[in-house]
Amino acid sequence: MGRSSGGFRRRARADRPKSQIGSVCNVSSEGHVVTYVVTENCIKCKYMDCVEVCPVDCFYAGENMLVIHPEECIDCGVCEPECPAEAIKPDTEPGLEKWATLNREYAAKWPNITTRDTPPADAKEWDGVPGKLSHFSPVSHDEAAPAKMAECASEVVK
Ligand code: SF4
Ligand code: F3S
Repeated sequence: MGRSSGGFRRRARADRPKSQIGSVCNVSSEGHVVTYVVTENCIKCKYMDCVEVCPVDCFYAGENMLVIHPEECIDCGVCEPECPAEAIKPDTEPGLEKWATLNREYAAKWPNITTRDTPPADAKEWDGVPGKLSHFSPVSHDEAAPAKMAECASEVVK
């Protein structure tokens, strides 16, 4: 059984109010714990539409991308179509191992984010640009914010 039947399961879950989503078994028929991962095209786009729809608030924020906590994601699939950059994918898609590893690593380091912030001013210009991994920032959203404010203040002083 592939993800096609899983898609039906995910949609059914997504229709439920948040209060009715309890313990969910997100294990594929092959015994693999499925989750969703944020991939390369999020970098420098960081639209953050995804955080508004996640029923379990499992997004974590870096300076220029978000990641999903693999143990908290309940595989509901609600966030996948909400991302304007199409950066959210099920980890069962081939070739996403490095993104699954990156999501796991930085979900443990970055702060949780539950409300949409302002996306970067040049987000649209970066949407679809190949090779964005080289622009990945390991800095957390919280650490980046004061640095950006200081940068803006120095621009005003000039
Ligand atoms: Fe949240 Fe997306 Fe996981 Fe659903 S699939 S729990 S919306 S991260
Ligand atoms: Fe990134 Fe898409 Fe969310 S660009 S911040 S995964 S809406």
